Amino acid sequence: MNEPNHLRRVGVLWLLASAIATPLVVLVLAPIVPPGNGSIEASGQVTDNTVLLGMVTPVIVGIMVYFAYAMIVFRARGDAVLEGPPVRGHRGAQIWWIALTSAVVLFLAAFGSWRLLQDGSGGGQGPNPIAVPAGKPLQVQVIAQQWQFTYRYPAYGGVETPHLELPNNQLVELHVTSLDVTHSFWAYQLGVKADANPGVDNVVYVTPTRLESFDIRCSELCGLYHGYMFDTGEVVKPSAFDSWIAKERVLYAPATSVLPPYATTYSPDPQRRSG
Ligand code: CUA
Repeated sequence: MNEPNHLRRVGVLWLLASAIATPLVVLVLAPIVPPGNGSIEASGQVTDNTVLLGMVTPVIVGIMVYFAYAMIVFRARGDAVLEGPPVRGHRGAQIWWIALTSAVVLFLAAFGSWRLLQDGSGGGQGPNPIAVPAGKPLQVQVIAQQWQFTYRYPAYGGVETPHLELPNNQLVELHVTSLDVTHSFWAYQLGVKADANPGVDNVVYVTPTRLESFDIRCSELCGLYHGYMFDTGEVVKPSAFDSWIAKERVLYAPATSVLPPYATTYSPDPQRRSG
């Protein structure tokens, strides 16, 4: 019996299916994958997701095409249970497998490192960030404690506010820390997520690019009311930010006067905390 060229058939089917699926995934699916375009970092994550999905689509299509082809063409027909011929290694397949998978993994490692080094990609970089975007940042401290985030603005007299507002199109340098246990500061639409550890100054860079409200969640199980530790932040026009922060300074002046001076970390006195 004349055996058809299965490899060529699967290859053609794979190319056809990939040619249809990859543009669909890249152009239709990838743009709606979170976190959206609320900041330079969030948009960057959407770009990265697009690249990853674009690369993984032909791989998954290849698996599914081969799976379907094998089930249809190589299935046992008739009653006899027959073993296929044993395969004891295939130099060509082995070389291609190692070369292709190595190329994909090395490319992704290089791509990911390069993207991280541009602006930190919205992740916490610890006290000495190596991915520092150009520009003069506005410093904002994020202070986590059971079970609320508060925010300190060192350039505005060290005022501490219960809600977060940020000026649009302004590079922001978030200093995330905690007063008690480990929390995690997650500003979803801004593409920011950074651990809040007691005694640690975790630096994150973000540049909001859209006037919008954004969700803030604690994303580290931190005790009984972890699920209650959420808030809504706001990206506003720089002029609106200026008037807001001026009002906050006046409103919280009595609290600011008894706060410890601004520092990158705080070690609360347990006696004082327990009253
Ligand atoms: Cu704070 Cu979970």
